[in-house]
Amino acid sequence: MSKDLDSFDTKATYSDASLDYATAAEEFWGFVSDDTADLIGPRPGQRVLDLCCGPGPMTIRSAERVGAHGYVEAVDILPEMRAITRDRARERGLDQVTVRHGDIDELPPGDASFDVVNCSLGLYFAKDMARSLASFWSYVRPGGTLAVTTIGRRLFEPVLPVFFAACRAEQPGMGTYLPWVRTEDPDVLRALAAEARLTGVHVSTRDTPMPLPSPGAWWPIVHGSGLRRLETELDPGAQDRVRRTCEEWITAHRITQLNVGTVRLIATRGRDGVPYTVPA
Ligand SMILES: C[S@@+](CC[C@H](N)C(=O)[O-])C[C@H]1O[C@@H](n2cnc3c(N)ncnc32)[C@H](O)[C@@H]1O
Repeated sequence: MSKDLDSFDTKATYSDASLDYATAAEEFWGFVSDDTADLIGPRPGQRVLDLCCGPGPMTIRSAERVGAHGYVEAVDILPEMRAITRDRARERGLDQVTVRHGDIDELPPGDASFDVVNCSLGLYFAKDMARSLASFWSYVRPGGTLAVTTIGRRLFEPVLPVFFAACRAEQPGMGTYLPWVRTEDPDVLRALAAEARLTGVHVSTRDTPMPLPSPGAWWPIVHGSGLRRLETELDPGAQDRVRRTCEEWITAHRITQLNVGTVRLIATRGRDGVPYTVPA
């Protein structure tokens, strides 16, 4: 495991951020689940496993697609996130959703019973990513699909470098390690897929321009993401100065959108041992 990963307290970061992340998951990150759902298209009656479900953006989309005769199991390590997903499913009358505790470092071996296994924005928290990927695969039935989406290069450009510089100006030597850099290179996902012996593998990258409606819209993104870990290392006065520095820079440079790079791995388990190939 990366020594750096130890420096990122995932549980503290995301339990603090759960409510802000829940808002951001719809308003900002929702496109990841929209794209994934469109690509792998859970169909009526299917069984979906959503790992690292967070506040459930993909859980809810999947449940709406599989309908009342389908089944969606949502798994997360944090009770705060599970509670949000459970409430969202309940509010929508999606009784086909079951939410349970699970740690992707310690998943029990799967029974190859899911049509779709999804992990959006979560694999990079695993201690041994190849091992976790192999365990995800064990839940995919023959003919089923595994989708793993991670964050790619050029995240939040052009504002993120300004945020980092402002944090370091307040606290020289501050570490700005974020776990998602582990998988920002698509070749890393390809190598992990090979190590985990996945079949029918297709890895793609995408840059999505996301609207930044106002300079003030940047800070909720910090609050509702892993960047919050850096913010909480600063005292309130420093946080305020970093926020103002970013907002002034965004205003001066007339920034109205942010880039969000994603990397997506799709693997499909062949029937009768014949690997399925994703069409080009
Ligand atoms: C960035 S959020 C992604 C949430 C959601 N999948 C989405 O697309 O918005 C990462 C989630 O992974 C969960 N998580 C982190 N480490 C985990 C682990 N070892 N096992 C299970 N869940 C984990 C966190 O609690 C958090 O809810």
